[in-house]
Amino acid sequence: SLKLCLKVSLRKLNHVCLTVPITAVLVFVLLKLLARVNRRGGVDGVGRAVLVTGCDSGFGHQLAGALDQKGFVVFAGCLSPDGEGAQNLIRESSGNLKVLKLDVTKEEEVQRAKKTVQENLPEKGLWAVVNNAGVSDWAEIEWSNVEDFHSMADINLFGAIRTAIAFLPLVRAAKGRMVFVSSIFAFFHCLNMAAYSVSKRGLEAFADCLRVEMASFGVKVSIIQPGNFSGATNILKTKTALDLWVKLDEDRKKIFNRRYVEVAHDYFKSTCTTGFKTAEPVVTAMMHALTSTRPKSRYLLVSALDTVFFKLYPLLPTVLADSVFCFSSMYRTRLLDTFWELFVFYFEHELDYFEINQVKKF
Ligand SMILES: NC(=O)c1ccc[n+]([C@@H]2O[C@H](COP(=O)([O-])OP(=O)(O)OC[C@H]3O[C@@H](n4cnc5c(N)ncnc54)[C@H](OP(=O)(O)O)[C@@H]3O)[C@@H](O)[C@H]2O)c1
Repeated sequence: SLKLCLKVSLRKLNHVCLTVPITAVLVFVLLKLLARVNRRGGVDGVGRAVLVTGCDSGFGHQLAGALDQKGFVVFAGCLSPDGEGAQNLIRESSGNLKVLKLDVTKEEEVQRAKKTVQENLPEKGLWAVVNNAGVSDWAEIEWSNVEDFHSMADINLFGAIRTAIAFLPLVRAAKGRMVFVSSIFAFFHCLNMAAYSVSKRGLEAFADCLRVEMASFGVKVSIIQPGNFSGATNILKTKTALDLWVKLDEDRKKIFNRRYVEVAHDYFKSTCTTGFKTAEPVVTAMMHALTSTRPKSRYLLVSALDTVFFKLYPLLPTVLADSVFCFSSMYRTRLLDTFWELFVFYFEHELDYFEINQVKKF
């Protein structure tokens, strides 16, 4: 009877071991499906306005067109309203899209844009602001000065903060949305991207704090984190290895030799040929953030394979996260060059020593 008792208990245990995980998986899948169904449907554009900054080109330009097609009243902030990008927007959109002169680094332009928006609001008010305007550049920290960091933050970080603070009362009144276009470089601390990373990490800190503060007012805040879309936008401005080289003083030229600067330059030039060729995934994510009843707080926009890497990367211990860069061609070149310079230095000094001793002997 003890044997029988044991057999029954084991069978029960087996049963529990199988049913508990299966039920857990089923509940998880069901909840995910329910969340997806809930996310469908959403906000329509009729009677609602959206302000998008940086619409001369890239994501902002395409989003402005897409919002116009959805029936939103669009205020498209452009750096150059007479430029080709802004003029194309006007030509290709309905009368509901208005181009505004908006340099986000200038308080008076932001206030003027706010006045125009307030005077032209549709009945449901200003539904959202998409803080998209931005610039990018690359350089090692030692090749930069504080002004390089300052000018990047002025547009990417303080430009977005200035715009958000100015338009927040209107968005709060509509219980609407604030969207911030960040980057994977907000959490991926890659070589040569310090100034950009500083501006985007600061931007995410601001957006995260705003989300918490705005939750009780019904305003939802989303962060868009695109990967490499340089082929689909104008974000990478051309700069030659020589442009960088002439900026370096003599001491730096000895440490960061010409070959290394050229390797770094070629690396960034080659990124233009890789990555996404269309801005569609980013525009779709922005649309979701603006129109879904349950927008996400973060949208990571990288390839399926990179998604696994970028989701894991922030969880890695620092020593492992940093070692990722050992695989980069820039890093390897620097290591080899440093090794070579040490070797040459040692060899020259040994030679000096040898020559001195030979002279002494005579
Ligand atoms: N493309 C990517 O791979 C990528 C990846 C991650 C994040 N992002 C982010 O995505 C956002 C949009 O960039 P994009 O990729 O679409 O590049 P883009 O084509 O260069 O668009 C950026 C826009 O911002 C404008 N702008 C620059 N300075 C401004 C200022 N002071 N005030 C107002 N507007 C200004 C630019 O005008 P001009 O054309 O006249 O300079 C341009 O229209 C940026 O925040 C960028 O950091 C892009």
